[in-house]
Amino acid sequence: MASHGSPCGTSRPKHPHSSNAQAGPVHWQRTIRAETLRRGTLRKARVSGTEVLLARLEDGTLAAASVVCPHEDADLSQGMLYMGAVDCPRHHYLYDLRTGVNRYPREVFPADLAKDLAPLQLYPVMERDGWIWVESARLGQRPTA
Ligand code: FES
Repeated sequence: MASHGSPCGTSRPKHPHSSNAQAGPVHWQRTIRAETLRRGTLRKARVSGTEVLLARLEDGTLAAASVVCPHEDADLSQGMLYMGAVDCPRHHYLYDLRTGVNRYPREVFPADLAKDLAPLQLYPVMERDGWIWVESARLGQRPTA
């Protein structure tokens, strides 16, 4: 992937400062020490001036996402992590941290309402040399439904 593909770093670049032949240089930013993010926990980190949600899922998979809820901008770092998703503290929409999809209420809304629910922006992330790195090219972007 270099920086594209799985947001959970399953296809890693050779080095945090490597480049991608199709998309140009890849800008990996060092965030927090890897051992400070335990399984089943969330942390907020600042990456290139933007706050990012970091998560280590129950199975150890890393995820990085916008810390801002796509619904009404609540701080997702104040939410709960369970079953590979973050539960927004304000209205309890549940964003899958592997896909960004809003599982709930998407799973219960009628299809015509669910199509208007924006997913959570995810970022490529990896663990290397004891640190968690986030690819910064899409920081601050907000996907549409
Ligand atoms: S602000 Fe997050 S679900 Fe409403």
